[in-house]
Amino acid sequence: MSTLPWSPTSWLARPIAQDIPYPDQRALQACVKHLQSLPPLVTSWEIERLRSQLADAEAGKRFVLHGGDCAEGFADCRPAPIADKLKVLLQMSMVLVHGLKRPVLRIGRFAGQYAKPRSSMTETRTVDGVQRTLPSYFGDLINRAPFDEASRTPDPALLIAGHAHAATTLNFIRSLVDGGFADLHHPEYWDLSFLSKAGLPALLRTEYERMRASLADGLRFMEALGETTIAELTRVEFFTSHEALSLWYDSSQTRTVPRRDGFYNLSTHLPWVGDRTRQLDGAHLEYCRGLQNPVGLKVGPSMSPDELLQAAALLNPANEPGKLVLIARMGAAKVSHALPTLLDAWAASGRKGLWLVDPMHGNTRSVQVGDKSIKTRSVDDVLRELALAHDSFARTAVRLGGLHVELTGEDVTECVGGAAGIREQDLTTNYATFCDPRLNYQQAMELAFVIARTFRRL
Ligand code: PEP
Ligand code: CO
Repeated sequence: MSTLPWSPTSWLARPIAQDIPYPDQRALQACVKHLQSLPPLVTSWEIERLRSQLADAEAGKRFVLHGGDCAEGFADCRPAPIADKLKVLLQMSMVLVHGLKRPVLRIGRFAGQYAKPRSSMTETRTVDGVQRTLPSYFGDLINRAPFDEASRTPDPALLIAGHAHAATTLNFIRSLVDGGFADLHHPEYWDLSFLSKAGLPALLRTEYERMRASLADGLRFMEALGETTIAELTRVEFFTSHEALSLWYDSSQTRTVPRRDGFYNLSTHLPWVGDRTRQLDGAHLEYCRGLQNPVGLKVGPSMSPDELLQAAALLNPANEPGKLVLIARMGAAKVSHALPTLLDAWAASGRKGLWLVDPMHGNTRSVQVGDKSIKTRSVDDVLRELALAHDSFARTAVRLGGLHVELTGEDVTECVGGAAGIREQDLTTNYATFCDPRLNYQQAMELAFVIARTFRRL
């Protein structure tokens, strides 16, 4: 199946799940050519560094925090939403470093998370008493959200706009990090402006402050001792990640680099294959199998052990540590049934890969609020899946290496429950996601505290 030669466009010969029907093929090819000529967003050195840090995580020396928006929109390319997302990831990682006593590797779902798989390729609505069917909205990289023909027609110029917005986002992130914003000595920089309005419950706030002080003391003590690992512990960097859904976008930024073997996807450090596009003979696995980047693979409840092992062999043919990230997203109701079988097969196979748990995507449900049907997730389900997944890992020889989560630094009401006590009737207060419901600041921090308290024996 995979023995034919690979190239950045060999995926074109395979069935393409979620294939976007661009009406103007010439315009598409012109945009692809333009995208191929633009500078890369990341470098092969960074990608290789990520691979080596992922290999450390596989060996239990780091914990991975992989998180961000479900879908970034071009309109989110503003300073506050970007900085707030970094602040939440930084605050969560501080809690995790403190609780787990190991460095945290941060990978953002950002600077390119603009394309979304949909359950249906088309959407039908009744407009002025007439039923209309148009292409679904696939994210800002593909088409536009308003329900009219011009907006929903896939527009290849958005591929170029996506590259520009990703570059702008990444430039801001790099400048903040280089300028000292992410310095572990200054966690006060990460406080969110709306803390007074939507702060942590008093108990968590006190715990956070206590942790912050004890971490600062620890840092000063180790620095006084001239501890060499301190630089590594306090060095904060962010890697980027997005679902490799639009293979036109990803393959146009896939190239060779001087003095290195193979092809790199230079639009992101860690592309991943979604649960809807992971067919063994499909275009997405074909594209990803030829990359030097580490590659993520979503592992949903319908995946069989055989499929898992075949996909892993395709994506990590040399069976190297740091090359493959498996992201289990089973749902609280299915995880105890679906995950152990996969983990047993994995342990027996000797395959290398880093396992993360995504306790979000198997727990999405719709609720009716007034005349609206709203997608939500319950924090209780998220925490339950995490605890059950943790137990499944603990019973096998496979290490649980990190968390994959959808969150935002904004004060949204998209997931119910948690210490904030968001109820179904509160969901419409500030429901802002383009796609799936995200944890808000308080809910995300709560999750970090739970992991820091209960995952000590990872
Ligand atoms: C996602 O991560 O936003 C997503 C669509 O996930 P999955 O492929 O696991 O459903
Ligand atoms: Co999502």
